[in-house]
Amino acid sequence: MNIKIPKLQIGSITADIPIVQGGMGVRVSLSSLVSAVANQGGIGTITSIGLGDITATARGYEKTSREALISEIRKAKSLTKGHLAVNLMGVLSNVTDLIRTSVEEGIKMIVFGAGLPTKLPDIVKEEDVNLVPIISSSRVAEFIMRTWDKFYKKMPDAFILEGPLAGGHLGFSVEQLEKPDDFSLEILLPQVLESIKPYEDKYGKKIPIVTGGGIYTGQDIKRMLSMGASGVQMGTRFVCTEECDVSPEFKQSYLDATKEDIVIIKSPVGMPGRAINNKFLKDLEIQGKFKISCPYRCLTACKIETARYCIAKALLNSCFGKVDEGLIFCGQNAYRINKIVKVEELFNELIEGYNEAD
Ligand SMILES: Cc1cc2nc3c(=O)[nH]c(=O)nc-3n(C[C@H](O)[C@H](O)[C@H](O)COP(=O)(O)O)c2cc1C
Repeated sequence: MNIKIPKLQIGSITADIPIVQGGMGVRVSLSSLVSAVANQGGIGTITSIGLGDITATARGYEKTSREALISEIRKAKSLTKGHLAVNLMGVLSNVTDLIRTSVEEGIKMIVFGAGLPTKLPDIVKEEDVNLVPIISSSRVAEFIMRTWDKFYKKMPDAFILEGPLAGGHLGFSVEQLEKPDDFSLEILLPQVLESIKPYEDKYGKKIPIVTGGGIYTGQDIKRMLSMGASGVQMGTRFVCTEECDVSPEFKQSYLDATKEDIVIIKSPVGMPGRAINNKFLKDLEIQGKFKISCPYRCLTACKIETARYCIAKALLNSCFGKVDEGLIFCGQNAYRINKIVKVEELFNELIEGYNEAD
């Protein structure tokens, strides 16, 4: 295929295809999916979220999380020579340990979301490791750049700008999500590009912006790049691939979902999220609350006293196929997917779509 799509440069990494497969917890984007993406020239992001044994006490949880992450990184590396990243959430109790583990295992791109990465440059001092915060506004981008400028004399190697149509936890209020057009990537991207300019000038380096949330076709990719994005991040479409690590039942829920089934939930993490309105969510609505046992607080932001369910357990259930007892995160466009394809086919479709787009 004649590839016209530009490469994506993030610090020391150059990806042939400007597609980052977004990190998807819990256990959705592991070695099988990420290596398939990296083998196609994209960047495959391993999730570090929910890998530990949630029935264990603190030390057991941290140890099993770390071991599972090491195992996934090593497996992925044995399957690809391409580019790999690890996704981490600021609200994880053991986030610092997982960041250090990723770096020690040779990961060159750390993607940090759900929390402000104010200490990230202190945790990762290695110059060849690229630091990529996830943002959902120019305000947050500015805060991060101002803080890093003041304390570390350093800039992020890229930002991932996640809009309101994305899957998983979202950096918007429920009220903002009711008006997604007011916060669309088309509105947010120019604001973010404007906010990075003074810092790009000061540091004499480009800060690439990778946009995500609702990117579905090659035409969408073309639109984002023509507006000034350097690449795109995609999650939902990668769930319905043969290589995706999640259970067949999880993938089937996407295939069965209609537009009306996709809803915004209030997560115990304290952020809204997007999910499929399945039996689990309907039972929760009727019962009000499910029993929680929490030997180890895996999330600092989770308020166990008021939480209506354990989100780690709910996500693990659906990941392992017990979808009626689990939460199924998805992006707004999940209902558009009607078949499971190989990662290679998806890349070919996206690149062809890009090439043909005006
Ligand atoms: C099932 C699922 C789980 C996700 N989990 C995470 C996560 O743990 N951390 C994160 O930063 N983003 C997470 N995301 C967001 C994706 O990484 C990606 O940015 C987003 O889904 C892009 O929008 P799209 O799904 O419309 O392509 C998740 C998305 C999905 C669909």
